[in-house]
Amino acid sequence: MKILVTGGAGFIGSHTIVELHQAGLEPIIVDDFSNSSRSVLEGLRNILGYEVICYAEDCNRPESLRRVFGEHDIAGVIHFAASKAVGESVQQPLKYYRNNLGSLFTLLTVMLEQQRTHLVFSSSCTVYGQPKELPVNENSPILPAESPYGNTKQICEEIIRDTTKSGVPLKALSLRYFNPIGAHPSAQIGELPIGTPGNLVPFITQTAAGLRGQMTVFGDDYPTPDGTCVRDYIHVVDLAKAHVKALQLLFGQAAANHYDVFNIGTGRGASVLEVIRTFEEVTGTQVDYRIGERRAGDIEQIYAEVNKATEGLHWRAEKPLREALADAWRWQQKLMRKGG
Ligand code: UD1
Repeated sequence: MKILVTGGAGFIGSHTIVELHQAGLEPIIVDDFSNSSRSVLEGLRNILGYEVICYAEDCNRPESLRRVFGEHDIAGVIHFAASKAVGESVQQPLKYYRNNLGSLFTLLTVMLEQQRTHLVFSSSCTVYGQPKELPVNENSPILPAESPYGNTKQICEEIIRDTTKSGVPLKALSLRYFNPIGAHPSAQIGELPIGTPGNLVPFITQTAAGLRGQMTVFGDDYPTPDGTCVRDYIHVVDLAKAHVKALQLLFGQAAANHYDVFNIGTGRGASVLEVIRTFEEVTGTQVDYRIGERRAGDIEQIYAEVNKATEGLHWRAEKPLREALADAWRWQQKLMRKGG
């Protein structure tokens, strides 16, 4: 069965390609490489032993998607393709609304036209904002978005839900990711932040590798056990596996319409300092950091309740934080070797 993966050359997308293949499915990538590198295809080839079919196309173009659906009998779609930098979305909201809403709108239109009925959507725990109660479950309130990026995830979920409700044949799941980190254990694929990383773990690995000076821990006066923010860091390979389970759930649905959402996290929170210390322990490498001001817009703490995914998807995260950090470090070292 062929599975179309939009944004399949990205961080989560590329790891999902591997898991789809291992589950006996045939992934096909559509990616415009606006925020990913073609070198990912080489990493995938090294892992899979063959060249994944890849269309270097923008999902906002209906004719591009029509061509892919015309050339392949696509059984399911996983839609990752989106812009994802929170700060940039505040500066350039139209880019985010155009890319993220436009690509979903185009994809759904073409899917319905071509009678393709199975969709897994890449959403985010950002839809919960700062939850009043922890852990957050799927019924926790959706709070007004803090950024245009967060707003696009909320609106995309609503678009999909309303479309399934309208009675057209469409079965869809939104997966609300917590904080994906790590890399494939082979170190053939991993995160490739363009420019200065915004996320914690690439910042740690680049600092430890000597590529950056001292890093800043954004605030240690939060009402958390050690004063730093708490997140639910999930190994990207575990997250990738959740997509395979989500597709399998959709394939097993008898009804013509279906929509549901799942939290995809570990269920465990870790503070910024805990991540840094665990990284130092696991890799034997020091991270030069200082405590700085809070980062505007940061939430104090969030971690997932994962019972629904455990029961509904028959999936749970298996890899501990230590393993994710060891894999992220192995990937960073590989990047440095490649860079000479
Ligand atoms: C961020 C986004 C979120 C998005 C996710 C994608 C914000 C406010 N949120 O999540 O919407 O879905 O990325 O991966 O941007 N930290 C430091 N020093 C650093 C970098 C980070 O202390 O140099 C801290 C942050 O303050 C935060 C934690 O590390 O407490 C994690 O940060 P990050 O990796 O950026 O993820 P989120 O903020 O959770």
